Amino acid sequence: MLTVSDVEVTYSNGVKALSRASVSFPRGKFIVLLGTSGAGKSTLLRCLNGLVRPTTGDVAAEGRGSIFRNGKALREHRRRTGMVFQQHHLIGRLTALGNVLTGRLSSHGTVRTLLPLPRSDRMIALEALDRVGLADRALHRADQLSGGQQQRVGIARAIAQRPEIILADEPVASLDPETSVKVLGDLHRICREDGITTIVSLHQLELARQFADSIIGLSNGHIVFEGAATELGSAVLDKIYKVSKPEMMVAAE
Ligand SMILES: Nc1ncnc2c1ncn2[C@@H]1O[C@H](COP(=O)(O)OP(=O)(O)OP(=O)(O)O)[C@@H](O)[C@H]1O
Ligand SMILES: [Mg+2]
Repeated sequence: MLTVSDVEVTYSNGVKALSRASVSFPRGKFIVLLGTSGAGKSTLLRCLNGLVRPTTGDVAAEGRGSIFRNGKALREHRRRTGMVFQQHHLIGRLTALGNVLTGRLSSHGTVRTLLPLPRSDRMIALEALDRVGLADRALHRADQLSGGQQQRVGIARAIAQRPEIILADEPVASLDPETSVKVLGDLHRICREDGITTIVSLHQLELARQFADSIIGLSNGHIVFEGAATELGSAVLDKIYKVSKPEMMVAAE
């Protein structure tokens, strides 16, 4: 379980990206963040792995306390947290296997990472590729794979880290609808099999409905909805997607 308590994030340019956000992410669940562009989804995900430090409030991991407690706690939290990015962030000239192996690096000390990784790491990486259906592409260069395959390599890299948590920021935003369902389906299946708590931001409602155990709706930096996909009726969707801009309302009066 990850717990966000009363978190506010104000960036250095003065933009308040999250306002008094409090929410819990139960262990092993697949949770989807919804909201318009600028609602605060990426900011919340960055707080959850400690890339952004809340201006006020805290993020705590079950049994371990604040992830910001000290440098060691933060490194430990990051080691337990896999990341999947919209643009997958693969190294194009490396093979698929080489990219997945980078997911193993955080399990080793700094000096160890300068040496070739042990055979057991290669086995873990190959198994991860196999689970996303890409064992036969292990030795292909990443930049010669399709977009969907590249994102699968990104997922394999995250699971090779053997994480407790996976954070995925719009993991299927650059894929066509059919590939999106397959790739998100892979992530969903693997996380369920391994009991990984997964938090995914999405712009596609139908994917949220299909895969989410629960949904968190953000609007203008506020959490405006927490509940099951079945509760996503028009009133809830209005709350999440109707961008209220007080200054525009004043101008219109
Ligand atoms: N590094 C930053 N510095 C300053 N402001 C930022 C930074 N990152 C985000 N913001 C601002 O914070 C607000 C929330 O942004 P965030 O990226 O969290 O939204 P989002 O919901 O992920 O949007 P999108 O769907 O477009 O990815 C926006 O107003 C954005 O302009
Ligand atoms: Mg974003």
